[in-house]
Amino acid sequence: MTVRGDGSHHVQTLHEPIGVAGQIIPWNFPLLMLSWKLGPALACGNTVVLKTAEQTPLSALLVGRLLHEAGLPEGVVNIVSGFGPTAGAAIASHMDIDKVAFTGSTDVGKIILELASKSNLKAVTLELGGKSPFIVCEDADVDQAVEMAHFALFFNQGQCCCAGSRTFVHERVYDEFVEKAKARAINRAVGDPFKSGIEQGPQVDSEQFEKILKYIRHGVDSGATLQAGGDRHGSKGYYIQPTVFSDVKDDMLIAKDEIFGPVQTILKFKNLDEVIARANNSRYGLAAGVFTQNLDTANRLMRALRVGSVWINCFDVFDATIPFGGYKMSGIGREKGIYSLNNYLQVKAVVTSIKNPAWL
Ligand code: NAI
Ligand code: MG
Repeated sequence: MTVRGDGSHHVQTLHEPIGVAGQIIPWNFPLLMLSWKLGPALACGNTVVLKTAEQTPLSALLVGRLLHEAGLPEGVVNIVSGFGPTAGAAIASHMDIDKVAFTGSTDVGKIILELASKSNLKAVTLELGGKSPFIVCEDADVDQAVEMAHFALFFNQGQCCCAGSRTFVHERVYDEFVEKAKARAINRAVGDPFKSGIEQGPQVDSEQFEKILKYIRHGVDSGATLQAGGDRHGSKGYYIQPTVFSDVKDDMLIAKDEIFGPVQTILKFKNLDEVIARANNSRYGLAAGVFTQNLDTANRLMRALRVGSVWINCFDVFDATIPFGGYKMSGIGREKGIYSLNNYLQVKAVVTSIKNPAWL
């Protein structure tokens, strides 16, 4: 881009690659997270050191082989299989890495920022956790809302940063919604994900499995009503029954923390002012779902919610052009779309003195 400066100066801005981009990705969508990160970094001319999650190293190694076969010069993309506190921390604190992009837990996101600040002040973008509201308004078609809310939470075994994990339902349709959400969860097909017709496979590892079961016990102990599930599925593997809690209160741990599992928490609301305040009363701000046929309601909620993505009468719609990222403790920066390019570019201002401005 070139702009004309005042008087006797010619001004240009150059957009240059930032240099070496460090990228640390999680296990819940190993291939997708890799592509969201590699795409913009390479498009802007950077080289990359990408670390996979310890649970899911293989798909990235296959991509590495394909990149090699496709003729990408050696050293442009470097894939490291390694552990977080060693390989991951080495990337975040490396003096020759110019930028780090991280997706994972908010706790580790804080560590990444700290390591970047203690080393070379590399630029940091973070995609972190969430506790996203899914708001079912009084005019919503209840059957459709139940199906969408079910998908918003249970998709990928509930292991989604943007899972619609606080299902707010208007009091007028609440009882009907709870009954139908319960029936839908009980009907969810759990089992070997390689078999056709299966909707839900196992959780990723024993750590996640135990963490989710602990939250379920917490939900029961804190007085929420267990409508469906509540335990492991079968006696082998990390399968968890699709679980639904109703009568959930905002201050319960299951309504505040990211469970990252197949546990739906349903909360009742009376009016829009109230649900806006409650939806925003979270340390997270990643996404929200709104289910309504009223345009004014949709517009009002869309503006009032302090989140990076709002899906109206849909959920989890991802496209390479749609920016994704969080407000508050859900992260810093945006991935995908034109916004992702800014993460991988430096801007250089060049000012050239012009000897005889009268000629211009
Ligand atoms: P995590 O945040 O520990 O792991 C994500 C990535 O960070 C992995 O590649 C890991 O090796 C790396 N890492 C871990 N410690 C590190 C460190 N000290 N320095 C640099 N890199 C480090 O997430 P974890 O333990 O797998 O899951 C814990 C919780 O985090 C989950 O239960 C879930 O709530 C949340 N989570 C959120 C994700 C999201 O998409 N936003 C993805 C994965 C987990
Ligand atoms: Mg961890």
